[in-house]
Amino acid sequence: ELEPYQHYMQKEIFEQPRALSDTLTDVLEISPELFGDGAYSTFKAIDSLLILACGTSYYSALVAKYWIESLAKIPVQVEIASEYRYRDSVPNPRALVITVSQSGETADTLAALRHAKSLGHQHTLSICNVATSTLVRECRHSYITRAGVEIGVASTKAFTTQLAAFFLLTLALAQTKGVLSEAQINEHLQALRHIPSAVQAVLALEPQIISWADDFARMDNALFLGRGMHYPIALEGALKLKEISYIHAEAYPAGELKHGPLALVTSQMPVVVVAPNDALLEKLKSNMQEVRARGGVLYVLADANTHIHSDKGLHAIRMPEHSGPLSPILHVIPLQLLAYHTALGKGTDVDKPRNLAKSVTVE
Ligand code: M6R
Repeated sequence: ELEPYQHYMQKEIFEQPRALSDTLTDVLEISPELFGDGAYSTFKAIDSLLILACGTSYYSALVAKYWIESLAKIPVQVEIASEYRYRDSVPNPRALVITVSQSGETADTLAALRHAKSLGHQHTLSICNVATSTLVRECRHSYITRAGVEIGVASTKAFTTQLAAFFLLTLALAQTKGVLSEAQINEHLQALRHIPSAVQAVLALEPQIISWADDFARMDNALFLGRGMHYPIALEGALKLKEISYIHAEAYPAGELKHGPLALVTSQMPVVVVAPNDALLEKLKSNMQEVRARGGVLYVLADANTHIHSDKGLHAIRMPEHSGPLSPILHVIPLQLLAYHTALGKGTDVDKPRNLAKSVTVE
């Protein structure tokens, strides 16, 4: 069943157009009921969101925070499940507690949910890839992603389908709160429906990514930069690279460069920049200049219609199209491929990286 692929991770990366369209297949229109019976009254009752997750699922929640605050105008707090479960927090009974998980069996995420309930939280929703999981059973509402079974330890298709589910949630919340018109909601839904074919076009960039991976396989460290909703994508790119290629990688919001990490930049520290064509592009370009001026080598995922070209110390890959708020779903794909091909170059065990388990069901 692996044919024609060499690894499950590779298969799962290339399955993303299918996984995304399956995740959207039953969505005829935006409605709170996509999240289960009674979701409308829950969405009406809540005034904020508290999202709890681990690892890659946590990064999808970080992207969702940007979407939900900017489009649905609802305040969102995102917290790592293993931190939340043990700290003294101030519960807001009007918050909707959302847990996100590929497996639905991650010990810390389950414990965080139970902790939230013990503090009096009653509004709960899960975004999960396994309909029969403990997490789904224990939450009042749910959205089941249809990534299909994910075998590679490094999560790929689960992440992009979680993002699709979060975007649906954003639109359903905006609808319930009356902050977007039906026409605006439909426009966003159309853009989401186009994402599977947009992802397909991004996957065609693989040969260019392979040439970047040749450089990365010879490095010991890498820095990932992004701004706004692409900062979590930089985090996810760094996590993928460290998990499977064992290269030390860190991600920063690009505006933080001068506050410390710039000291690390040398010709031996490749800097990956996620550079969508958004309001922060000009700021990002000046961050890139700061890196180049110190001899750093940039690997830039430039958006369609930006004027960023390959040059001395700058390798640019141009994304096929610009997707507005959905651009994180597209920009993560080359980073998954970069991690995969770098790991191939290093000869590591891509599907079963050392020391890691697919589901972390113990603390
Ligand atoms: O099954 P979950 O989504 O709850 O798992 C959470 C993390 O353990 C998981 O995302 C982990 O970080 C992956 N190995 C990342 O690739």
